[in-house]
Amino acid sequence: MKPVNVGLLGIGTVGGGTFTVLRRNQEEITRRAGRAIVLKMIADKDLKKARKLAGKNTIVTADAMEVVNHPDIDIVVELIGGTTVAKQFILKAIKNGKHVVTANKALLAIHGNEIFAAAHKHGVMVAFEAAVAGGIPIIKALREGLTANRVEWIAGIINGTSNYILSEMRNTGASFAEALRQAQALGYAEADPTFDIEGIDAAHKLTILAAISFGIPMQFDKVYTEGISKLAREDIRYAEELGYRIKLLGITKRTPKGIELRVHPTLIPARRLIANVEGVMNAVLVKGDAVGATMYYGAGAGAEPTASAVVADLVDVTRMHTADRKHRVPHLAFQPDALTNTPILPMSEVQTSYYLRLRAFDKPGVLADITRILADSGISIDAMLQKEPSEGEEQVDIIMLTHETVEKHINAAIRKIEKLSTISGKVVRIRLEELNRN
Ligand code: HSE
Repeated sequence: MKPVNVGLLGIGTVGGGTFTVLRRNQEEITRRAGRAIVLKMIADKDLKKARKLAGKNTIVTADAMEVVNHPDIDIVVELIGGTTVAKQFILKAIKNGKHVVTANKALLAIHGNEIFAAAHKHGVMVAFEAAVAGGIPIIKALREGLTANRVEWIAGIINGTSNYILSEMRNTGASFAEALRQAQALGYAEADPTFDIEGIDAAHKLTILAAISFGIPMQFDKVYTEGISKLAREDIRYAEELGYRIKLLGITKRTPKGIELRVHPTLIPARRLIANVEGVMNAVLVKGDAVGATMYYGAGAGAEPTASAVVADLVDVTRMHTADRKHRVPHLAFQPDALTNTPILPMSEVQTSYYLRLRAFDKPGVLADITRILADSGISIDAMLQKEPSEGEEQVDIIMLTHETVEKHINAAIRKIEKLSTISGKVVRIRLEELNRN
């Protein structure tokens, strides 16, 4: 059977991995796909590097548009990243009737609605397994494996860099700045680590997961995003003493009032499997009404793990590209005319539990004042820890875990607590999720 011709845009880490995996497993991949998948063209500004990787029959160019417009190319693999030129190339490829495979989570989270509408119009597939959690086939699981379920919630460790930093802080007692430096030295974090440590990368991925789980459009602008850069090592230690770990989670949940869409540091019980995901690894916990809780674990980045997802998409597209377009798996798992406009809940309406750390003078009545404020706001305390004052200090750390409440209520209570003359500084507030089966 005629081979499928692929044009690759961008020959960085993942592009290189895609080359390696396709070459090494060529025979197995052909047996699975039903025809050969051939890397016919590659485009990269670094022509020397591209030529080094290319086979003798591969056309190398510095101009990505040449690939996108080439009549022999069936599938364009976009591994350039970013939301500017990558978008132009993808839209042009779609217009030219080519299928697209992309690892570009930022582009899909921000411009996905436009890209999928164009793909639908032109009858082509846009596959994006590599965009979320690297090598973990979470897109496949949600779009196909779990299709019988009403997804109730998802909680994922979907940024390896921040998980590495949190693991280091817990294991070695390092500060955030020290752990970040270590992540940079090991090449996990970029020189500008903002996207990873401020939760933006996780928010991109969560946007995609929520869309395919609930049948809603991409709504990156509605994700509540809070990163890990302000986390103090003592909070990691106190959480540990109370039986919890702090993870940067992407959480999306169906509630009667709307869909929660949030990324933030979260206390989770240390005994949960997902709490034990360490270092740069990723894990996604999905609760479906029929299947219950399921967890997907693996490498969230890296050349070959991400290439594993890119090649899986190439095989999928190869298998399906001659199929009637109406019978392909819809891009967002739900038919395009069946997406809903279920509202995304503002963070102030989200319901969860909280870890609070207060710095208080060790005087009679301090605790009574705090608990009265919480009680007046209808907030119930689940656990409490008071630390001995350090030598020569008058102030103590008080740590409280609350039962579930609505975010606006805890915020109002915190404002009142901070006004007490016996409290110094700001109250530290970190959200807490039990992640049990309900
Ligand atoms: N920067 C991402 C992470 C990997 O640290 O998980 C690519 O999505």
